[in-house]
Amino acid sequence: MEIFIVTAPGLEGVLAQEARDLGMTVTATSPGGVTAEGDWADIHLANRNLRGATRVLARLTAFRAMHLAQLDKRARKLPWADWLRPDVSVRVDAVCRKSRIYHHKAAAQRIERAVSETLGAGVGADADVTLKVRIEDDLCTISVDTSGPSLHKRGLKEQVNKAPMRETLAALFLRSCGFDGTEPVLDPMCGSGTFPIEAAEVALGLIPGRARSFAFERLAGFDESSAFENPPAKSCEPMFFGSDRDMGAIAMSTANAARAGVEAVTQFEHCAISDIVPPTQQPGLVIVNPPYGGRIGNKKPLYGLYAALGSRLMSTFPGWRVGLITSEGGLAKTTGLPWAAPGPIVDHGGTKIRLWQTGPLKTKS
Ligand SMILES: C[S@@+](CC[C@H](N)C(=O)[O-])C[C@H]1O[C@@H](n2cnc3c(N)ncnc32)[C@H](O)[C@@H]1O
Repeated sequence: MEIFIVTAPGLEGVLAQEARDLGMTVTATSPGGVTAEGDWADIHLANRNLRGATRVLARLTAFRAMHLAQLDKRARKLPWADWLRPDVSVRVDAVCRKSRIYHHKAAAQRIERAVSETLGAGVGADADVTLKVRIEDDLCTISVDTSGPSLHKRGLKEQVNKAPMRETLAALFLRSCGFDGTEPVLDPMCGSGTFPIEAAEVALGLIPGRARSFAFERLAGFDESSAFENPPAKSCEPMFFGSDRDMGAIAMSTANAARAGVEAVTQFEHCAISDIVPPTQQPGLVIVNPPYGGRIGNKKPLYGLYAALGSRLMSTFPGWRVGLITSEGGLAKTTGLPWAAPGPIVDHGGTKIRLWQTGPLKTKS
């Protein structure tokens, strides 16, 4: 089967590597995703184990359709019962590009009607399973979304602050920084604690999908008895730290870490960036996404904040590497940190962000 793993545009390469490391056969990357070949076991694995995937689509079929009547006829002949269940409702999202069928709503409606009339499944906007239909150059490709809610929803985080980093992006940025679970991590503006919690999960070998369900569990042929057993946590040193000047963020991070089962290896402290010190003797990774300031008028005070962060890290964190995520290259430069060339532009829900990285910081002479 062809499997398409969706990610934020800009992070396809890192996700492809994660999929390969998991033993998947990656065949291509394209803007916003990674294509792999595999079977249903690979689809289950991708959903449960890939930290960086937003969702996993399984291609069911493809055929030519020049007009709506033809689409309707072909759709009625498809073996829907091989893929879908009559007792599980379905919705169809369609896009049309460079095709004679150009009305995506009409295309979606034809396929929904075919499913409902030939299989007997209910249809509707809040259905349990989503079919993704793409009509491009008159070729209609039908895939099923095997994930359900976006995979950044691990089912564990109850409390979020104003601008949380999505878990999936945090995982891919940690990976981009070369993090493999064996070094200390500090986020000195930790908000809801996403980076330290994600890093701790990697170190403990906790799989990201251990606490949630997936749309594939509601497809035809899913075998309940194949229920997956979560591997036991590995042991590791307590070396994942977060701090923030907002006391509410510390309470939030502590609660989120407990829900994720990583409280024994994480620590959160109420502290402004001007007062941070290395939390361990062994140098590691500082990873941080400071506020970006949405509107131009909000950006001015941020220059002082970024400069203060840079100066504190330069003076106090010799040997540590820094990864900083921001939408503003000018702000990153204001830190005065010795950046390598920034990473690719990543689309984070419409905001274009980039990862800036240093090598190990030098001791100030
Ligand atoms: C964009 S949020 C970080 C979000 C976080 N990565 C998450 O996933 O929830 C920025 C954080 O920086 C914190 N912050 C702002 N100025 C600070 C300062 N001077 N010292 C420490 N933290 C600060 C804010 O309280 C906020 O929680």
